[in-house]
Amino acid sequence: MFFDYTKPEVVRFIQEFKVGKIFYDLLVEHPEEIEEKLEDRKEFIGVSNGIKKVFDLIRKYATNDYPVLIVGETGTGKELTARAIHERSKRADKPFVVVNCAAIPENLLESELFGYEKGAFTDAHRRKIGRIEFANGGTLFLDEIGDMPVSMQAKLLRFLEDYTFTRVGGNETLHANVRIIAATNVNLEEAVKKGKFREDLYYRLNVLTINIPPLRERKEDIMVLAKYFLNRYAKETGKDIKGFTPEAEEALLNYSWPGNVRELINVIRKAVVLTENTYISEKELNLRREDVDTAYCLNGHSLNLKENIEKVERELVRRAFLKTGGNITKMAKLLGISRPKVYTLIEKHRIGEVSG
Ligand SMILES: Nc1ncnc2c1ncn2[C@@H]1O[C@H](COP(=O)(O)OP(=O)(O)OP(=O)(O)O)[C@@H](O)[C@H]1O
Ligand SMILES: [Mg+2]
Repeated sequence: MFFDYTKPEVVRFIQEFKVGKIFYDLLVEHPEEIEEKLEDRKEFIGVSNGIKKVFDLIRKYATNDYPVLIVGETGTGKELTARAIHERSKRADKPFVVVNCAAIPENLLESELFGYEKGAFTDAHRRKIGRIEFANGGTLFLDEIGDMPVSMQAKLLRFLEDYTFTRVGGNETLHANVRIIAATNVNLEEAVKKGKFREDLYYRLNVLTINIPPLRERKEDIMVLAKYFLNRYAKETGKDIKGFTPEAEEALLNYSWPGNVRELINVIRKAVVLTENTYISEKELNLRREDVDTAYCLNGHSLNLKENIEKVERELVRRAFLKTGGNITKMAKLLGISRPKVYTLIEKHRIGEVSG
């Protein structure tokens, strides 16, 4: 059962569920690969309160058709979450269609979404249906919605009014029965303030929201995931690996995982391939000690001093908050600042706010 996360198994996994029923690109470009994708099963694993809340919302949101907005850092499982909602909804046997708004050039996005008629532009030799039409009956996953060009946002908003649209170069009004799930790793509220994201679209999409916490904020999941993927890759490679050394476990727990679950999977897979031991050592994980701390501060590949200092500040306040249970006097002492300053920083960085 998907949500029975209390089962006492070595690796507690929630449920295996089939994903990727139909990939639009595969169907169009490589129909022969669909069969393979159908075999591709993915599991959703976690025991932390943060992820339990996500599971709970998945279950609740799956029962209706309203748009969902999924927010989380890279690699936290936004797409997995979107698929889980789809798989549990009454649309499960209809397509789950992915549109990566950041990857499709602005001038192509409209025709990708809405399709086009023959002769709509120079290369339009035949009619092509768009992804919205293709997703009919199913779910349309708008990934990286924060990167959708503002001009396209207006068209999406219009579509969301009554779920009607016209193909580019056409005049027939068509209706599509799709459920919209959007995901972003940028702060849309900020994007709205900067004029990069339409406020009306933001309110439209931000009705049912899921915030997936970063892995470093749900440490209980780290070893569960690590052991699960260790077993899986050990089996796949035919190696007899029993676990991690205590030092390796500590390193896994202390690392900041800027790439979240995706990074953890890659680290484990690599260690399994390279190890010749029964227990994976800290060295084999190759998480350099200094990264454990510096990774907290680095904002992707940006060397922008102000941005990174903000991150370090937030991280230190967050750690003091966790360590003291939010006791302002103790936090002030640990951080070496006045109590009013602690209040200001807590407010500034929104420390301790429950996501969801
Ligand atoms: N809780 C989890 N249990 C098992 N696997 C997970 C979990 N969370 C994420 N994964 C796996 O981690 C990888 C990254 O997840 P996903 O692609 O859903 O992340 P994302 O938030 O969409 O990332 P990005 O912002 O980079 O697109 C996938 O292989 C996914 O199956
Ligand atoms: Mg994604």
